[in-house]
Amino acid sequence: MTLKSKILGTGSALPKKIITNDDLSKVVDTTDEWISSRTGIRERRIALDGKTSELAARAAKEAIKAAGLSAKDIDLVITGTVTPDMAFPSTSCFVQLELGLRAGIPAFDLSAACSGFLYALDVADNFIRSKSAKNVLVIGVDLFSKIVDWKDRSTCVLFGDGAGAVVLGATKSKAGILSSKLFSDGRKWELLYSPQDKNRTPFEDVKSKAKSAKNSKDSTSDSTLKMKGNEIFKLAVRSMGSAVSEALKEARLKPSDISLLIPHQANNRIIKAMQQRLKLSDAQVFSNIEKYGNTSAASIPIALDEAVKSGRVKRGNNLILVAFGGGLTWASTVIKW
Ligand code: ACO
Repeated sequence: MTLKSKILGTGSALPKKIITNDDLSKVVDTTDEWISSRTGIRERRIALDGKTSELAARAAKEAIKAAGLSAKDIDLVITGTVTPDMAFPSTSCFVQLELGLRAGIPAFDLSAACSGFLYALDVADNFIRSKSAKNVLVIGVDLFSKIVDWKDRSTCVLFGDGAGAVVLGATKSKAGILSSKLFSDGRKWELLYSPQDKNRTPFEDVKSKAKSAKNSKDSTSDSTLKMKGNEIFKLAVRSMGSAVSEALKEARLKPSDISLLIPHQANNRIIKAMQQRLKLSDAQVFSNIEKYGNTSAASIPIALDEAVKSGRVKRGNNLILVAFGGGLTWASTVIKW
């Protein structure tokens, strides 16, 4: 039987601080009614003092324990994130340090915004199937509270912070990842982006030091997240729909074979549109957007962890995970549990 990879354990971590829609209505011109009816979100978690690597390590520790493994068993770490503590070292290296994983194993981050976890899962799957790794720690973590514009009501109400993780291990059983599809389209990057670093080199500062102080104004830029919500909405429904069809086709399954759809938690209306398209019942679709908002790369692994812990995932079930985010990027994975 061919070698596959299988999820051995899941974990998640969320900051303690809850920000409700009513809390936000005191900061920007919005209402609980607008946010919940347009998105399904009622509250989100914010890491006031916490770091990305701390949340990631908490989720990862739980996943390793759930897998029945210990730190020494992990031989690769991949973290999907676009909000690392630092440009470098990577979040994965900080997790390696925090959890006392073996020194010398490969550890790196992967940037695919909200699709980051499924991209990382696919890379991990390839490492396992090519026998380059046996037990891989795959993490999705983002702290969008650090990059949204808290004065922009059209974006700040949508996001929250969190982390989710799985341990992926080699298996020869029938269960495991059956298919995985990754996509991107850089032509549409301006629909959703976070500039963060200024588009200039500090070398310019050296050159301009002799110039007058008014030139220093040129170096300021707005570094917060930008999104054209309407266009992203339509593309998300279309792209995730076709990604699901392609992954199911490769796994030789039909929509009626799906036990549980775990979609990226960006907007309940997007999730409902996918549910209708695939003709799934409420019981076949997982949603926790109400509690956490859009946690970017963390949204799918947090949802998966909750689905597993609440008993909604049973041995032999076919799960489909599907994501969409900045890049643009989108991805889908079919798993037999
Ligand atoms: N409170 C009150 N009113 C608001 C708010 C708010 N928080 N935000 C916007 N509005 C207003 C707008 O100003 C607009 O007013 P106007 O008609 O007077 O101009 C009106 O509400 C309608 O705004 P729309 O943007 O058309 O609202 P829409 O129904 O499209 O919902 C939303 C916006 C929720 C952002 C939706 O478009 C969406 O969910 N888009 C997809 C987001 C997504 O999928 N992201 C995934 C990837 S995320 C990642 O990769 C990081």
